Amino acid sequence: MVTIVTLDPQNRRHRRQAAELLVENFAAWPAMEIARAEVSTLLARNRVCLVALNEKNDVVGLVGGLPDYDGNVWELHPLVVKKSEQRKGIGKRLVTAIERAAKARGAVTMMLGTDDEIGATTLSGCDLYEDLWLKVRDIASLKPHPYTFYEKCGYTVIGVVPDANGTGRPDILMAKRLGKRR
Ligand SMILES: CC(C)(COP(=O)(O)OP(=O)(O)OC[C@H]1O[C@@H](n2cnc3c(N)ncnc32)[C@H](O)[C@@H]1OP(=O)(O)O)[C@@H](O)C(=O)NCCC(=O)NCCS
Repeated sequence: MVTIVTLDPQNRRHRRQAAELLVENFAAWPAMEIARAEVSTLLARNRVCLVALNEKNDVVGLVGGLPDYDGNVWELHPLVVKKSEQRKGIGKRLVTAIERAAKARGAVTMMLGTDDEIGATTLSGCDLYEDLWLKVRDIASLKPHPYTFYEKCGYTVIGVVPDANGTGRPDILMAKRLGKRR
């Protein structure tokens, strides 16, 4: 059974395991030293950092959230599930948990960016300044890409940052309404 809890800053083992998940899954954190620094950042006072723990009390998932726009909007960043535990519903549960935490702190919108650095969607490898909104409307996946995971969690593509990771490698922006508009 997997439980979702706030990452305890004092728990060095959980912090290390959280950093290991980043190294295992993301090119952006190629080494433990850099990943450990990221985990410290996620533990900043204004942020929320949740982990999924398995029955052995090992970290098998991590999600972070941080406020923006005076707290009306929270950004979901990062989200990761241990490779051996993916496709078992843990990612979806982490998303629900961080949404609940953000909503409890006053958020009306959750947003995120999901990069396409590997030509996994039709938004990659093209000039997004031409027919931008048609391309966004007609987005499709060419290989598995997390944007479809987020769609299953209720997120909508709201835009794109062209060339965010180099020419033709965009960041796909997505958002979800968490509550009533104030
Ligand atoms: C993306 C990620 C967090 C999803 O977590 P997960 O625990 O595997 O996802 P879940 O089991 O909760 O899946 C929920 C649904 O999304 C689908 N899904 C999961 N990962 C997917 C992916 N990468 N691409 C497309 N669909 C995906 C599942 O099949 C499932 O569909 P269903 O409800 O129709 O059965 C996980 O695959 C991961 O850590 N990937 C590497 C890091 C990453 O890409 N993070 C996101 C960066 S923005």
